[in-house]
Amino acid sequence: MEVIISATPEEAGRLGADAISELLQRRPEAVLGVATGSSPLIIYDELGRRVAQGSLSLAEARAFMLDEYVGLAADLVGACEAYERAIADAGGIDIQILGIGTDGHIAFNEPGSSLASRTRIKTLTRQTRIDNARFFGGDVESVPRHCLTQGIGTILEARHIVLVASGRRKAEAVHQLVEGPVSAMWPATALQLHPNVTV
Ligand code: F6R
Repeated sequence: MEVIISATPEEAGRLGADAISELLQRRPEAVLGVATGSSPLIIYDELGRRVAQGSLSLAEARAFMLDEYVGLAADLVGACEAYERAIADAGGIDIQILGIGTDGHIAFNEPGSSLASRTRIKTLTRQTRIDNARFFGGDVESVPRHCLTQGIGTILEARHIVLVASGRRKAEAVHQLVEGPVSAMWPATALQLHPNVTV
């Protein structure tokens, strides 16, 4: 695991964007894995700037989302199976961008998730719903209770994983990720088993 401590979030964003830019220079048709939430915005903003300047093109790249709230898809079980097939048919994910939850979740693999899990339906913890209420007008009750998420086993198949975290609220989760024992109670610690992770 390569750990880079950046002086500012913007610097971390540039490093994440560099990893994607270098990959796309080698393989313009590369497959990206993208997280939502606020952490990766510093990477996406920098990528947007590079595209606007003409120094980067995403035209041939493909991307897979990590997760989605339930309520936006009809056949949930079928959607999970189709998603795993679509990733495999695309040749697998070349670079996976991740954030991390304050409870150590990656994608929406909450504490207790199997380290071998695949794309499936999960129940969000109360903590995650509180953390994400800011995306729903500040109202916890408006945050869906369920989601579809790539599993930890799915994420570990990406060839390169780039996890970005900033702020004091993530400190304990990052400590566990980098220095803690591998445990389903801190799902991000599964990344210690992957040969090519940049934090
Ligand atoms: C979102 C995702 C989540 C977030 C995590 C941190 O697609 O996979 O694991 O990365 O909840 O969210 P932020 O970055 O908003 O603190």
